[in-house]
Amino acid sequence: MLKVFTDKEAVIAGINAYKAKELSIGFVPTMGALHQGHLALVQEALNNNDKVVVSIFVNPTQFDNSEDLEKYPRTLDNDVVLLETLSANNIVVYAPTVDDIYEGNTVSQSFDFDGLEFEMEGRFRKGHFDGVGTIVKRFFEIIEPDNAYFGEKDFQQLAIIKKLVEKYNMPLKIIGCPIHREISGLAMSSRNTRLKPEYNTAAPFIYKTLKTAKKHFGTKSANKVTEWVEKQFAKHNLLELEYFIIADVETLKTVKRKSNKKAYRAFIAVYADDIRLIDNIALN
Ligand code: PAJ
Repeated sequence: MLKVFTDKEAVIAGINAYKAKELSIGFVPTMGALHQGHLALVQEALNNNDKVVVSIFVNPTQFDNSEDLEKYPRTLDNDVVLLETLSANNIVVYAPTVDDIYEGNTVSQSFDFDGLEFEMEGRFRKGHFDGVGTIVKRFFEIIEPDNAYFGEKDFQQLAIIKKLVEKYNMPLKIIGCPIHREISGLAMSSRNTRLKPEYNTAAPFIYKTLKTAKKHFGTKSANKVTEWVEKQFAKHNLLELEYFIIADVETLKTVKRKSNKKAYRAFIAVYADDIRLIDNIALN
């Protein structure tokens, strides 16, 4: 049976028993409502560590929209069933309450991520990365994993967590994993389950547009590609573009002039009804 801990003393005791046996610990932080994208991270962690801790916690401090927080799907029992299909013996779930993890103080720490936090998601979701930094740092301090796994689906988050570990000299490795998609191309997300049928049908347009943008990026300037994408969404009657940005993968700053020596990625945020979807694609 897979162990589910809800308080940190218990999870620390469990992990300490593994560490006493010199077993390596992989960690996969999640907000639950697990899908194949999450499970791929857990599988990667199982492949490279003796034991894997999966946290399942809908973190209130990273939501700037109370309705999004309230409506975020919570499916712990089903999540545990899914994880058991990967391994019942080598996975431990830590699903704390808000009080257990925050100890009565839900004010985020403020972080300096060398400017990464001011781009894209940081610009459109105020306080989001302070909330992410606060919770992930707390998890790292409790679990003290050897390796932690994050998806490129949230590419900016992955970059910020790497920066967090560097800034605080935390002794663990951060591993990025590729984006998992539905057959339609739509990036898997816990929020997809909330899409009404017509929006579910429309949403694959996001990745389709990213793929075409990538093709255009071979011959056109970043500005021209951006204008083209904005036009596609202006014509679309269901999906509303929040931003499309082509950025340098190191600084996450919007590219002004392309250089052959740099790697770029396109990032997008779209509203499908009241549901906010994000995606990204490597361009070169
Ligand atoms: P959540 O959205 O549940 O995602 C947990 C992890 O799964 C993140 O690293 C995310 O990038 C990855 N992931 C989600 N969808 C994916 C997909 N389609 N393909 C590949 N990886 C995917 O991200 C969070 O939770 C939170 O911000 C968290 C880090 C847990 C802090 O609260």
